Amino acid sequence: MPACLLPADDGAVPYRGVMLDPCRHFVPLAEVRRMVEALALIKMNVLHLHLSDDQGWRFESLKWPRLTTHASSRSKTVVGRPGNYGREGLHPENYLNKYDGKEHGGFYTQAELSELVAFAKGKGVTIVPEIDMPGHMRAARAAYPELGYNGTPQEVGCSWGVYPEVLRADEPGLKFAKDILGEICDVFDSPYVHIGGDECPKEEWASAPIARKQVKDMGLDPDHLDSYHKLQAWFTAEMAAFLASKGRKLLGWDEILDGGAPEGVVVMAWRDWTHAAERATKAGIPIIQAPSLLYFDYAQGPEKDEPLSIGPGATLEQVYAFDVYKGVPQEHRDLVLGTQAQLWSEYIPNPKHLWYMAFPRLIALADVAYFGKNRDSYEDFLKKLPARVEELKKLGIQGHPLP
Ligand code: ACM
Repeated sequence: MPACLLPADDGAVPYRGVMLDPCRHFVPLAEVRRMVEALALIKMNVLHLHLSDDQGWRFESLKWPRLTTHASSRSKTVVGRPGNYGREGLHPENYLNKYDGKEHGGFYTQAELSELVAFAKGKGVTIVPEIDMPGHMRAARAAYPELGYNGTPQEVGCSWGVYPEVLRADEPGLKFAKDILGEICDVFDSPYVHIGGDECPKEEWASAPIARKQVKDMGLDPDHLDSYHKLQAWFTAEMAAFLASKGRKLLGWDEILDGGAPEGVVVMAWRDWTHAAERATKAGIPIIQAPSLLYFDYAQGPEKDEPLSIGPGATLEQVYAFDVYKGVPQEHRDLVLGTQAQLWSEYIPNPKHLWYMAFPRLIALADVAYFGKNRDSYEDFLKKLPARVEELKKLGIQGHPLP
């Protein structure tokens, strides 16, 4: 991936990616390789692997071995949509859920990931690893309760939603984060390392005497929520400096803007309603566009016509019409490094369903990103699509029926 190549003004972009989430439902390595082959076929060049979340830890750490022995599997999984989904302030485990009673898990060894990186490189695809921190830490906390402040053991998350368990923001938390990111840098050669940063609830920090003292020592008011956004920003800056010492750039979801982002980072803009792309680029920060339109875990049309998903989403035609400069002021267009589709897997329980959700929308996004304004008309795109879908079938990929 040409890390610093600036895009042409026609909307063709150097970072053209997709994110896989093997945490909510594990994606076997053979399917990850298949995705790499598919990306190469459609001229995409980044596979973002989301390797840790509340519901499972998927990266083998040699320094923190309980992440694989204890955090890589959960005892059961919520069935269907969790009750009361999205109700603010309610712990996901307290939703009115039904569970399947089946253990679910998996992880990738460092040897497997190194081999994947080399395989992908041979295909012109960069693997961008993500370890989500300081939020989405429930699974890690199940393995190492001391990564929180009160050390209370708990289970790996079994439901969907945002868990309140976060990484402590003082030295033990920093040591953990740097150990893991160090191992990540040993395995992956991507110029970007993603540290997540999204959806980090601040309640644990705001009620922990250690974190309260930490913000006070930073000259901030421990009773003010914004102080904890600044604490997250401080944490992000520590990670950015650590990654810079390894020759890497920090990439994070747009929440890393909230307390003020450090120099030299890249933002993945996903929250349309906070005008993330505009906020980042106005601050001179390069972005990768990943708005909700590109959340391919949402259905490809009206929900009544589709299998259970997180909600109604973008059609093929809407994806093909995507403007990579959406939300970006004219004068900051050169800060758009690229774009990415997301395949969060709460409602993608197996590879067959993964391909159904991903394709053919991913082909549409690939053309948007690779050809920019020079892409075919939608009518011509549709005419050529059956032949491209046949190529994917040769890889064992069967997507959604064509419109
Ligand atoms: C996200 O969808 N939590 C980045």
